[in-house]
Amino acid sequence: MRRKDVLDLDDFSPDEIREVLETTSAMKEVLARPIKRVPPLRGKTIVNCFYEASTRTRVSFELAAKNLSADVVNISASGSSVEKGESLVDTTRTLQALGADMVVMRHAASGAPYAVARELSASVINGGDGWHAHPTQALLDLFTVQSRLGRIDGRRIAIIGDVLHSRVARSAAWGFATMGASVILCAPPTLLPIGLDTAILAGLRAKGVATEVAGTPAVAMTHDIDAALRDADVVMALRVQRERMDAGLLPSLREYARAYGLTRERLARARFGAVVLHPGPMNEGVEIAPDVAHGSQSAIEEQVTNGVAVRMAVLYLLAGGRAGPAV
Ligand code: NCD
Repeated sequence: MRRKDVLDLDDFSPDEIREVLETTSAMKEVLARPIKRVPPLRGKTIVNCFYEASTRTRVSFELAAKNLSADVVNISASGSSVEKGESLVDTTRTLQALGADMVVMRHAASGAPYAVARELSASVINGGDGWHAHPTQALLDLFTVQSRLGRIDGRRIAIIGDVLHSRVARSAAWGFATMGASVILCAPPTLLPIGLDTAILAGLRAKGVATEVAGTPAVAMTHDIDAALRDADVVMALRVQRERMDAGLLPSLREYARAYGLTRERLARARFGAVVLHPGPMNEGVEIAPDVAHGSQSAIEEQVTNGVAVRMAVLYLLAGGRAGPAV
């Protein structure tokens, strides 16, 4: 992988994404062994800076780094100098002085990992920045869909929920469209970011990727959930991000669940056997019904499991590892 940082998938080529997915398969083989630890990152220090709540992503990066034999240090906002008002610039200087080889950063401000990456010679991986991007989540979604359905290109991906506040939706749209799938983003009109579809289409065009898949745009938006579900091979439900929401965007959670919740009846309108995804944490009974979340079409637990292998692949490739099964 010829890049220093992984900040979003908007600048990833299809070949680069394929390289990550292939390496993820190799890492899955490592994880199936009785002893899961392999040596490629021995002697490297990875600093996990999580300045916003996280369980899955933080633990998953930590396990990934440890499985590759790296030393891992965790920093969170509470209990660190950030609480005392340390700026991002100071934090960056400290990370540099401590000799971190790689930094994983989650931050409430969109763009924070970019600012750090510019200053730091170490690799920076974005673990979620504000409403903006969450590239390793999108990579694990891609891997999960490829494992379940065999291929990504030509598939139709419906992403339903609070698209406005979702870094998961943005990165997933970039990732799936770059790999030749068509993405339909669906939300109530107040939670649909105007212009996101045309912005991504322009970006796809700029990197030479098709902007149409079998006659439909590679990325589109709608507030009509029936239209979004029609012919969908994958249905991703998004969490209603109440912590990011101003009053007035939704009448009530009950009303939202009635109009946009992914129930069994609604899921039946997608393709037979459509794969159900959710990045977690879930509000069961709001954006997704419990029987859908835990039903046979759900790949939600696989997403979490695959997250470790995907992050191992990203760390390994950024450290100069080569794609392929020889780990
Ligand atoms: C998401 C996040 O934090 O961006 N969760 C995750 O990383 N698995 C989505 C969310 O919080 O809803």
